[in-house]
Amino acid sequence: MKSTRLTVTQKNIHDFKGDLLVFCALKRENQLPWCDDEIISLVTHAHELGDFSGKEDETLLFYPEQTHMTPEFSAKRVLILGLGAEEELADDITAREAFRKAGGVIAQTVEKIKAGNIMIRIPTLAICPFEDMGECLAEGVVLGNYRFDKYQKEKPEEEQYKGLKDIKLFSEQNQNELKKGAKKGGIAARAACLARNMANEPGNGWTASDFAAHASHLAQTYKFKLSVLNTVDMKQLGMGGILAVNQGSTEPPKMVILEYRPAGKNDTLLLVGKGITFDSGGVSLKQALGMEEMKYDMCGGAAVLAAMEAVGREKPKLGVVAIVPATDNMAGGGAVKPGDIIRHYDGTTSEIVNTDAEGRMILADALAYGIKTYSPTCVVDIATLTGAAIMGLGHHYSCVLSNNDALVQRLDAAGKRTGEPMWRLPLGKEYSKQIESKVADIKNIGGKSAGTITAAAYLEHFVGKTPWAHLDIAGTAWNFTEKSYIPKGPSGMGVRTFIDLIRNWEKGAVGA
Ligand code: BES
Ligand code: ZN
Ligand code: ZN
Repeated sequence: MKSTRLTVTQKNIHDFKGDLLVFCALKRENQLPWCDDEIISLVTHAHELGDFSGKEDETLLFYPEQTHMTPEFSAKRVLILGLGAEEELADDITAREAFRKAGGVIAQTVEKIKAGNIMIRIPTLAICPFEDMGECLAEGVVLGNYRFDKYQKEKPEEEQYKGLKDIKLFSEQNQNELKKGAKKGGIAARAACLARNMANEPGNGWTASDFAAHASHLAQTYKFKLSVLNTVDMKQLGMGGILAVNQGSTEPPKMVILEYRPAGKNDTLLLVGKGITFDSGGVSLKQALGMEEMKYDMCGGAAVLAAMEAVGREKPKLGVVAIVPATDNMAGGGAVKPGDIIRHYDGTTSEIVNTDAEGRMILADALAYGIKTYSPTCVVDIATLTGAAIMGLGHHYSCVLSNNDALVQRLDAAGKRTGEPMWRLPLGKEYSKQIESKVADIKNIGGKSAGTITAAAYLEHFVGKTPWAHLDIAGTAWNFTEKSYIPKGPSGMGVRTFIDLIRNWEKGAVGA
């Protein structure tokens, strides 16, 4: 991935000779928009003409050389960007999202004018912590600047855009907070972009073995312990769920495990991500329309590995174990059939009524194995698990289901802080009853109603009393496109939530 330099500076902004200099402005009721002193005359003029109020996503682009501005700017262009209403920025969640979105709008302008280096003037706003401003602006620009053109023909040299190489955040004050924030934002955004890269690879470009290879690369870079279980290991261990899903495929399955264990006694978080590299539905074949999107069915697994990239860079106090059960779901001659009964790692037998409900089958083995082997303090799994999640919440919120209120509260807070919102759905006996089977211990679908909940009820069966939360990101892993910093295609959903969750972890906060 191309790398963008991210630095904090207090050099005179008037001397910045780069492609784009950015200022922010705020909308105020019956008043001039708020802005920094350097651009007051410009903003006043634009406001008088009715061109600019400072509302969200509003922009003004100037060419200082032509406009004889005083004081003079040396930058090729100046962008003034609306952040929205002043009073809304008093709320830290809204403010963080406003800066992230502003970062996204900056990235869109950067793309349009093919800017290579930019400077952003951090507004001297008393209501927002500098760390948050640095973090969210940096995050928004890096996330918004993402492109995936690996499989497209290279453009002729003169049309080529080499990408954004350098982002400078300018402020005269609070340099340290700003630096800390920019570093955090940069790490989180780059991790999310890595997850997008994995997800953007087609089914023939990213297989279970690619998950294993990438994990091996992470293990070498960050000194994680790596274990990769192959078909033989899975047979020995009795992982009948992932083996059954893999039966119709020519690609070998992998259970990929990375362990980060810091010194000292601490909590351990287990992250499990669905790594279905292509979901055809198997014998219960999906319809052709839109099936190509099922290359994204590994977004949960990508999120988990991408979060480990940030763990490796930040070395948190919390221990983190990541597991990605990975395979594609194909309909080859040996494929698992509706009616087949399989046995999961923990001994539970399951009647496979629909081979398209494969995510829960691979996650069941991964959860049971992960909990037994690593005795984590708590577990979070993430999966593009059910179409019903889209029916319920559309493409704006992920679903969260859990047996532990404290864990949900932490995840929800992390989701709010990162602009990855989630909404809790219930679990309970009534729903678990829907997956009772007449011929096995459970069955892999629960009927027409409450599809997201019955899928989670299946997983719940394998976590026992361990605090656990399940994120169903079927609606948000892609098509989560209303934000300036999330381009079309995979969003990287979950990566930044996990990073924030880990950063703000307090030992003992989620007890067994
Ligand atoms: N990967 C799909 C879920 C999905 C569908 C994610 C659309 C994103 C967009 C999953 O494996 C699946 O096929 N689930 C079935 C379950 C059903 C057979 C009980 C579904 O949701 O239709
Ligand atoms: Zn499926
Ligand atoms: Zn699937």
